[in-house]
Amino acid sequence: MSLLRTKPVEQSIRDTEEPGHRLRRELSATDLIVFGVGVIVGTGIFVLTGRVARDYAGPGVAFSFAFAAVACALAALCYAEFASTLPVAGSAYTFSYATFGEFPAWIIGWDLILELALAAAVVAVGWSGYARSLLDTLGIELPAALAGEDAVFNVPAVLVVLLVTAVLVLGIKLSSRFNEIVVAVKIGVILLVIVAGLFHVRADNYTPFIPPSESNPATEGLKAPLMQVLFGITPVSFGWLGVFAAVSVVFFAFIGFDIVASAAEESKRPQRDMPIGIIGSLIVCTLLYVAVALVVVGMQNYTRLSQDAPLADAFKAVGQSWASTVISVGAIAGLTTVVLILMLGQSRVFFAMSRDGLLPAWLSAVHPTYGTPYRTTVLVGTAVAVLAGLIPLSALAELVNIGTLFAFVVVSVGVVILRRTRPDLPRAFRTPMVPLVPILSVLACSFVMLNLPVETWLRFLAWLAVGALLYFAYGRRHSRLD
Ligand code: ALA
Repeated sequence: MSLLRTKPVEQSIRDTEEPGHRLRRELSATDLIVFGVGVIVGTGIFVLTGRVARDYAGPGVAFSFAFAAVACALAALCYAEFASTLPVAGSAYTFSYATFGEFPAWIIGWDLILELALAAAVVAVGWSGYARSLLDTLGIELPAALAGEDAVFNVPAVLVVLLVTAVLVLGIKLSSRFNEIVVAVKIGVILLVIVAGLFHVRADNYTPFIPPSESNPATEGLKAPLMQVLFGITPVSFGWLGVFAAVSVVFFAFIGFDIVASAAEESKRPQRDMPIGIIGSLIVCTLLYVAVALVVVGMQNYTRLSQDAPLADAFKAVGQSWASTVISVGAIAGLTTVVLILMLGQSRVFFAMSRDGLLPAWLSAVHPTYGTPYRTTVLVGTAVAVLAGLIPLSALAELVNIGTLFAFVVVSVGVVILRRTRPDLPRAFRTPMVPLVPILSVLACSFVMLNLPVETWLRFLAWLAVGALLYFAYGRRHSRLD
């Protein structure tokens, strides 16, 4: 039974209450929305939109964004409750330790590596696509082997990861003012795409809006969505099935709202402001995403969208290279902060796991001068840099999504369980209509997972198997829980 030993909520909270570690409650609902939009808007909209429209959904990608938003909104309501019950570093890992027990918690911690570290690598590769597009506009051509989707070794992606690692080790705080500026730039660029793009929209690019389904070598065999294989459907792209398959990819564009939940401890009025912050940033992002998707597929026929920097390149294609330059600069600034926040999240999760003894204790040592968990940060930075350097974005993004969706499912179930096992706990925010909302969240997230390709499932299961082995080889014997 020791596999299912749980860590009492009180103990988790006590671990973080040492003097000097209490966070100040000063974030308002607006601050939370700004923070949320800062984390959420990234490679998903800037890069994946083009690829998904081309390979799966055509202009129907706009629907895909809307569907993905619904699944996220349901999960978000569950995240807000757990974050306000257990406002400690470590996200879903800490929550599972309190709810399901040690082994499931380890598995979730291991799974979160996909959501955070791997996602950081994906965003870094997206960053590199825009860096390449920008240099290209300036007349500097990077060889395809050194940047972009087909790179052998993606140099710009590695450089941005190393830069972010240095910032994190030195503990340079991004002031909320700085964050506000980057968010403003990012939103400004997205609005530019929407407004300037409208002048170049051609109605014939919208017909057919959902191209008829067709077989596509890019989505056959192991690349076919699991759902289509399970139901014995001959794998297809486009049509409604293609729109659903696209949901499972553009889901990436919404990742990050769960990180907003982790700011519950710092929010002034969590009960009122957390749902406003989380749902508010989801609404803002959804509106922007659907509008951008509609404009971009209207500017260029979906079959011709670029795979590295579709938003900027769509403007190049209509002869507006000034707009393309502005978009690339904005994307580069905006994506950098996304990489930073994801890597920060990852080093916090490792930190929490190491504090619990499930990872070696030397990892959680804090730097004597900078006061940062520099060892976990350097470890994360190195791993992310290697991944970003070697693996193309499309192979990684789907694995990030399955890992994140799995964590959403676990958290949604956990909310219901913790209501039963610990009804007494103070909950600054309560999910409405329990268990209906958590059940809908589980169903929606599972449906999106089923639309991921078979090969993504195989990679995911292999990843979890490696995690389980590590737990029995190390974590189980070193756990600090008696
Ligand atoms: N949602 C974030 C992005 O799209 C991770 O880059």
